Amino acid sequence: MSKVIYILNGPNLNLLGKREPEIYGHQTLDDVQSMCETLADELGLKVIFRQSNAEHDLVDWIQEAREAAQGIVINPAAYSHTSVAILDALNTCDFPVVEVHVSNIHQRESFRHHSYVSARANAIIVGCGVEGYLLAVRHLATRLS
Ligand code: DQA
Repeated sequence: MSKVIYILNGPNLNLLGKREPEIYGHQTLDDVQSMCETLADELGLKVIFRQSNAEHDLVDWIQEAREAAQGIVINPAAYSHTSVAILDALNTCDFPVVEVHVSNIHQRESFRHHSYVSARANAIIVGCGVEGYLLAVRHLATRLS
């Protein structure tokens, strides 16, 4: 049976492609989803891909993944910098977690330099644009093989 990975996206990532394209690029979240699904298919993984602007949805989905998945890719977006709740939820999971940021958060405002999620992440990919999601999927496939 295929291994399952969740790819979770936080607030405002529904506007990828429209929002500050000079920072986040021109590809939409639908583009990211289809690229991830194609790659995951090649690697024998099944992807559950979701986005929410609400912190509690992300917590609920991490709890769901805890029972249903073997790994998570998460771009918590602005909640990276504020959410102990998302960190706590990830800390209940036994599987690998890859944190992705489209932009290089370390080259930006100082409030973006710290991510609560990084304390739990097995790997962190920043500044690769949306390709970061594909790198994360590949990395999970390697770790899970
Ligand atoms: C982001 C970086 C965050 O600081 C920001 O709040 C986002 C997107 C990124 O993918 O580069 O919404 O996570």
